[in-house]
Amino acid sequence: MAKASQATWGGRFTAGPAELMLQFSESVSFDRRLAPFDIVGSKAHSAMLAHVGLITAKECDAIHAGLDAILAEIAAGKFAWDTKLEDVHMNIEQALTKRVAAAAKLHTARSRNDQIATDMRLWFKFACGVLAEKIAGAECALLTVAGANRDILIPGYTHLQRAQPVYLAHHLFAWLEMLDRDRARFAGVAAHANWCPLGSGAIAGTTLPIDREFTAVALGFTDAKGRPQVTQNSMDTVADRDVFIEFATACALFGVHLSRIAEDLILWSSAEFKFVELSDAFCTGSSLMPQKKNPDACELLRGKSARLQGNLHTLLTLTKGLPLTYNRDLQEDKPPVFDSFDQTALCADVLAGVLGGMTFYRERCAAAVADPALLATDLADYLVLKGVPFREAHHAVGAVVRLAEKNTIRLDQIPTEEVQKVHAAFGPDWVQVFDPLRALAKRTGTGMPGPAQLTKQFNRWKRLLK
Ligand code: ARG
Repeated sequence: MAKASQATWGGRFTAGPAELMLQFSESVSFDRRLAPFDIVGSKAHSAMLAHVGLITAKECDAIHAGLDAILAEIAAGKFAWDTKLEDVHMNIEQALTKRVAAAAKLHTARSRNDQIATDMRLWFKFACGVLAEKIAGAECALLTVAGANRDILIPGYTHLQRAQPVYLAHHLFAWLEMLDRDRARFAGVAAHANWCPLGSGAIAGTTLPIDREFTAVALGFTDAKGRPQVTQNSMDTVADRDVFIEFATACALFGVHLSRIAEDLILWSSAEFKFVELSDAFCTGSSLMPQKKNPDACELLRGKSARLQGNLHTLLTLTKGLPLTYNRDLQEDKPPVFDSFDQTALCADVLAGVLGGMTFYRERCAAAVADPALLATDLADYLVLKGVPFREAHHAVGAVVRLAEKNTIRLDQIPTEEVQKVHAAFGPDWVQVFDPLRALAKRTGTGMPGPAQLTKQFNRWKRLLK
């Protein structure tokens, strides 16, 4: 069998790998997307080798020119990927070897173990940036809808039962808080990725006089002051997959948020609620029932969250109980991470599209929030301000609610004398409590749904998202 097919590690072998083994062990079918990062890493590594005198400046230039040409070929879709060469690293190194004699020196003081760790850390920094930007796009769409529907009131729900009136914008801003935490979480993952593994070698570094800090600076693994950040333990560096897990966690938690937002929208767009019309562009019809308009985009957003959680679970299971340091199991770390990235990116764009296309039904929202019972708590607060202890006030209002139910009338239609029989502290002004705008205006504290707070939040989000 083709011993030559393994030019990189074939020296101690007399026979080449079985065809089945090649198929089984290749990763180039999925890790080829790392090529730009692998090439940047190799350029920085060879620049460092030249800097410390392990290769000449001329050799370094030839390596750089060769890598640039390969990258251009890859970008143009003309590069011939070969699964026999296992992975992205060997495909690129072998292609370089065919063009540049000095390519044989590129892997000096480097292993694929610290190379893949470096490629992935560079990729995580890139991926987190992309996702943060896409989530910001969805946040901007949300802010625009909130602004366009600023005066609409809806019931806020607990236990999926109508609880208290809120501005719709307050509900939308709750989603915004969730999404903004996701965005910050990706920034945090990028910060954790920002340590350079190169120089850790296969497990125990190298005897050669390399300069790890030089490579780190060349690759942008630096702190806010531009100081190099290099990993501190060579064994941990090649074994560690924490950033993979943190990235998948950030995606999975974003997925949980998506699923909750999507669920609200699915409910709100049903005939039972009908608070919102979702745009045709993000709904589908039924092949049988001509009248149907289904919120499929939202259902898929809800469904994709399962997949994102599954990817996280794969990574946790993959690394659990794995002995230090590198084990080939770890090659399986990439498909779940790439899938989480692809799906999260897609979901963030779809969410922005769904949010941007919503039309709210003002009358339906107004009807849903019109029941004065939603302000029963405010009525208890009214009694508290008259000096009634809250528990007693709660009980008295409960009795008033019961009275309304018994007579099948609205809470605000009970004659004042009847209410005063329940508790003497009810004054002639008690019905004023049921004006929802008045009720909201009284909610002035930070984080509350009152109009002044809402204005504050609008300004805050405009500032944060510009
Ligand atoms: N393709 C490998 C991976 O993704 C690269 C590292 C290989 N290292 C090794 N010792 N075989 O894990």
